[in-house]
Amino acid sequence: MLAELFFWAITPCRLDHRRLGYLSAAISLWARGSRCRRDWSDHEANAKSVMLAAAQSLPQRRTCVVLGSGLLRDVPLDELSSLFQSVLLVDIVHLWPARLKALRYRNVQLLELDLTGTTDMLLGRARGFSDPLIRLQQDQTIDLVISATCLSQLPLGPEAVGARRSARLPQLPKDLSRQIIERHLDAICRLPGRICVVTDTEVLTRTRSGDVIEGEDLLEGVSLPAPDREWIWPVAPFGEYARDEELVHPVRGYLDFRVARRRG
Ligand SMILES: C[S@@+](CC[C@H](N)C(=O)[O-])C[C@H]1O[C@@H](n2cnc3c(N)ncnc32)[C@H](O)[C@@H]1O
Repeated sequence: MLAELFFWAITPCRLDHRRLGYLSAAISLWARGSRCRRDWSDHEANAKSVMLAAAQSLPQRRTCVVLGSGLLRDVPLDELSSLFQSVLLVDIVHLWPARLKALRYRNVQLLELDLTGTTDMLLGRARGFSDPLIRLQQDQTIDLVISATCLSQLPLGPEAVGARRSARLPQLPKDLSRQIIERHLDAICRLPGRICVVTDTEVLTRTRSGDVIEGEDLLEGVSLPAPDREWIWPVAPFGEYARDEELVHPVRGYLDFRVARRRG
């Protein structure tokens, strides 16, 4: 608890993003990640290996952009920093453990950006989405873009704001979450370079006997093409969420998302 308060006080984070709950969400994710370190390690190794395979298959490696870099738990930063001339880590908030890690590399930079383009809309200052990645579209040095296990997380902040929305704010689109997911996938496909995607797709509640007793789509009905790799992420092992139930997320990895989309 003390560590969480400490992060709250010392993390550089835009006031808008603090108001929208992103800093608190990042701190809770850090706390859960620390508690579940062992259970998450296979998932993190799988995610890193997809990202690395995508990077190694490229003919040239100038800039790599990592979207949803977060705590750099599932991002092979050491290897990406050696392989590329520069690495840009993008997230709405970077906590100090990630900042300190990034500081070790001269060619790694951080960018704090709302990847949903909804901040102004949620705060009642705009009627529609902004295009957060537009500034990267012209950068022809980008050889690899990685969407790093952030797709399913992107609607969570806006959904929480929508749920506690004040009457003064304009009505939010009914299918806001679905739009956020679709827009992210379309926006990354407009960027230069190879697109690598790692994303969880569902949350399943499992009993100790392995029976799935509940399931929920995390992608709001947006269907994804067949992945190159698939695995299970035990997000909340037994005892974390309930004594006799665990929450697991199926995860998909795409080495080249455009090619996967064309495959259908
Ligand atoms: C499951 S975590 C990703 C884990 C990360 N790849 C790592 O290695 O630690 C999801 C990430 O999405 C980020 N995120 C959520 N909403 C965002 C938004 N609107 N804009 C940018 N990043 C966002 C969170 O801050 C978090 O770091």
